Amino acid sequence: MNKKNNILMAEIKLTDAEVEAAVRVLRSGKLRQGKECRAFEEEFAEKVGAKCAVTCASGTAALHLAYMTLLKPSDEVLVPSFTFIATASMVTMSGGKPVFCDIDPETFLIDLRDAERKITSRTKVISPVHLFGNPCDVEAIRKFADKYGLKIVWDAAQAHGATFKGKDVGSFGEFVCYSFYPSKNMFVGEGGMICTNNSELGNRVRYLRTHGQTDKYYHTMLGFNYRMTDVEAAIGREQLKRLDSMLHIRRQNAEILNRGLTGIQGIRPQKTTPNACHAWHQYSVVIEPEDFRCTRAELAKFLEARGVATNVHYPRGLHQQPIFERMYGKVVLPNTESLAKNILALPVHHGLSKADVERIVEVIYEAGRHFNGKTHGLSQV
Ligand SMILES: Cc1ncc(COP(=O)(O)O)c(C=O)c1O
Repeated sequence: MNKKNNILMAEIKLTDAEVEAAVRVLRSGKLRQGKECRAFEEEFAEKVGAKCAVTCASGTAALHLAYMTLLKPSDEVLVPSFTFIATASMVTMSGGKPVFCDIDPETFLIDLRDAERKITSRTKVISPVHLFGNPCDVEAIRKFADKYGLKIVWDAAQAHGATFKGKDVGSFGEFVCYSFYPSKNMFVGEGGMICTNNSELGNRVRYLRTHGQTDKYYHTMLGFNYRMTDVEAAIGREQLKRLDSMLHIRRQNAEILNRGLTGIQGIRPQKTTPNACHAWHQYSVVIEPEDFRCTRAELAKFLEARGVATNVHYPRGLHQQPIFERMYGKVVLPNTESLAKNILALPVHHGLSKADVERIVEVIYEAGRHFNGKTHGLSQV
């Protein structure tokens, strides 16, 4: 809760140790990418169980570098439509074509049955998103990719610390792309990381990150300046030490929300993938207006008036974005479209107290009574 007793969607506050780490770099005058970045890469790779990790300028840059490494012109990439734009836009920016797939209405993750319908001879990559920190079924996706000879670019921008069958999602695959944008489970300012178990691919990404330079002023490919600086890396190294404790609080908060909200008619929390441990970057529910007797906008307004912030991730599927409609034509994806209409994110972050989270549940019950004229026959919170 903040000073005005509002329960906000995120807490973006660096610790003194993180600030001091950044100041040490600033005082040193070594403002470019250097030994802090290298150490952050080693420590992050060790934390997630990947062979190597490469820092970069953002989660968007991480995806761009991964796709640039794997794609040839006109290659198709299967992406869920319900995600942040970079998952798909970086495919286009790398010369490929994103092919939008529907999602599972309960987990909100890519639906492999729909993905299968969209396979063509040009399909080369699948890019599943661990949306809101909910891990995809890694085994099912690996099996699918093997069946069709696809590479996998995992979008883990929202999934620091998420696990599948006890293993960190960063440990699986060709490329796993992270973001450190403020509001994410780890936040250093702007920044990204690409993890891979293939050292050759890791090296390629490193070269692409710095203009395809394989030796000083010697360029064997064309690339970008997508480097992180040592300032962000120093913050990241320090913050990595408290990732587990921040995750622990997010998970406790999600548990209170799950217990409080499951069973309320007309409110349906995101279902965690079986065998997975969610990282709760966002806690999102579906509002079923006929059952809860109000629209998403009405509920959001009710919560806001009582000091509880909400947000909508995302108000439309990517296939409904004007730019993609113009480029690739109209597509119909019923689950994505329905979710985009009715999804609402509630606060779950590591800065909330137990009382804050209980308050969120209480206000939703109050909303139920207000809009429904009864308590849905459920026990009071
Ligand atoms: C799923 C997803 N992919 C990619 C990105 C891009 O990350 P960044 O904002 O660091 O470029 C984000 C960030 O919002 C994201 O949520």
